[in-house]
Amino acid sequence: MLIDTYGRVATDLRVSLTDRCNLRCTYCMPEEGLQWLAKPDLLTDDEIVRLIGIAVASLGIEEVRFTGGEPLLRPGLVGIVERVTALEPRPVTSLTTNGIGLKRTAAALKEAGLDRVNVSLDTLRPDVFKTLTRRDRHGDVLDGLRAAQDAGLTPVKVNTVLMPGLNADEAPDLLAWSMEHGYELRFIEQMPLDAQHGWKREGMVTAGDILTALRTRFDLTPEGAEERGSAPAERWLVNGGPYRVGVIASVTRPFCAACDRTRLTADGQVRTCLFATEETDLRGALRSGAPDEEIARLWRQAMWGKKAGAGLDDPSFVQPDRPMSAIGG
Ligand code: 5AD
Ligand code: SF4
Repeated sequence: MLIDTYGRVATDLRVSLTDRCNLRCTYCMPEEGLQWLAKPDLLTDDEIVRLIGIAVASLGIEEVRFTGGEPLLRPGLVGIVERVTALEPRPVTSLTTNGIGLKRTAAALKEAGLDRVNVSLDTLRPDVFKTLTRRDRHGDVLDGLRAAQDAGLTPVKVNTVLMPGLNADEAPDLLAWSMEHGYELRFIEQMPLDAQHGWKREGMVTAGDILTALRTRFDLTPEGAEERGSAPAERWLVNGGPYRVGVIASVTRPFCAACDRTRLTADGQVRTCLFATEETDLRGALRSGAPDEEIARLWRQAMWGKKAGAGLDDPSFVQPDRPMSAIGG
């Protein structure tokens, strides 16, 4: 089991498969100049599968989410999914993607055993998409979403980050659209994880703002706490249900006390938190021939050092060196 000094148990593993991306979302990456991880530093497909195998067999991991950067850019993705879903006990698997290229791969991913996808979509307007992501690929994302739905990677979830002055006015439109298409929409508060360190609390779109905007057009009733569990999204029934909308208020209503996650970066470092400033190197252990038990021990030890919270409100808070694109969502 992975347990920390606060009694939290991690059952959910997020694995970043690459730090590269084909978009340049302003809240994540600079326009250019971000240094990618060097190829020899990246875990190989075999190393990734081995680490996930240890997590599942010896550490109580029940869910594995593949992230990036953009995980669809990892050439071996389908094979990795296939091998991970063949593990015993079989973990639940999902993928967080920007949707570009999903049209081509959705069916193969389903076939390989993937259970679900989360697709990032911040706007319904192609011009705003281009400003926000610095790439003209809005249509590809919509195609990807549809392909995921058709392939049965359901429920398809849509992740949205609202940015002041760009797409902040789109919350109700995005909700109406998602309901119409049968996608489960979740808004994520913008977090200080951009490579440029440009995040400012002032002016950020908060969960409060989002709910106020949604309530101008929809009736929202909070879902019970027991249904939330350790899920970061607080959910509301829309117009009496059954459709639900989620808000992940990492900044204004942090849920660290219920966190059940552990993370693995593409270069083989364990991170106990998105905002952790320390990492535990598993790649070195792997490559020096450590047996599974030793790797499991290092991972448990990392978990034992997990901090109580992200500490965003702490005056001593420092943004981690590693940007979101190299940690994974
Ligand atoms: N704050 C909040 N969410 C972010 N994402 C990327 N960077 C940030 C940030 N700074 C989102 C992406 C994607 C998910 C992996 O995390 O939009 O949906
Ligand atoms: Fe790429 Fe996701 Fe970062 Fe956007 S938020 S640049 S899609 S990794």
